[in-house]
Amino acid sequence: MLSEQARQAIRIQMERYPDSRSALGQALYIAQDECGGWVPPEAVRDVAEQLGLEPADVQSTMSFYTMYHKTPVGKYIVEICHNIACAVNGSPALFQVMEEECHIHPGETSGDGLFTLKGVECLAGCGGACTLQLNGMYHFQVTPERLREILARCRAENGSASLYSATYVPERTGQG
Ligand code: FES
Repeated sequence: MLSEQARQAIRIQMERYPDSRSALGQALYIAQDECGGWVPPEAVRDVAEQLGLEPADVQSTMSFYTMYHKTPVGKYIVEICHNIACAVNGSPALFQVMEEECHIHPGETSGDGLFTLKGVECLAGCGGACTLQLNGMYHFQVTPERLREILARCRAENGSASLYSATYVPERTGQG
């Protein structure tokens, strides 16, 4: 399932740790990136095999951390903070925009496969509330109007400029 390029990227990460199994988190990011934003069972098996773990070990890590996806997701992951600082600054209106523009609620993916919405706990960006992450990149002081602009830009790009991938490619190739 995983390409030789991905396997090589995992090997590079394994060399960074005294115990190569400590590279599990990075390995899952690499697998997720290659598989279009989620980690299918076949990739779980490959990651486990490469790290010398049981697939159940990999599954348990995936189920603990919310950034690893076990089902297909959209090209853009929109994570909107719903904790207090963002809530009092208007984050409920951002969820409303997602419903109006994309017809989705937290945990859902839009029919066009472009957006997956997640309601998340504090993103440690309270000073810039409302705060959201788009494919891992922070956006601060997001208003409904600003969110509509972000969504429009994503639609225009149609996933061609995945910020999520950009975050991890240097690590993945060992050039960062
Ligand atoms: S409460 Fe939203 S970033 Fe902290």
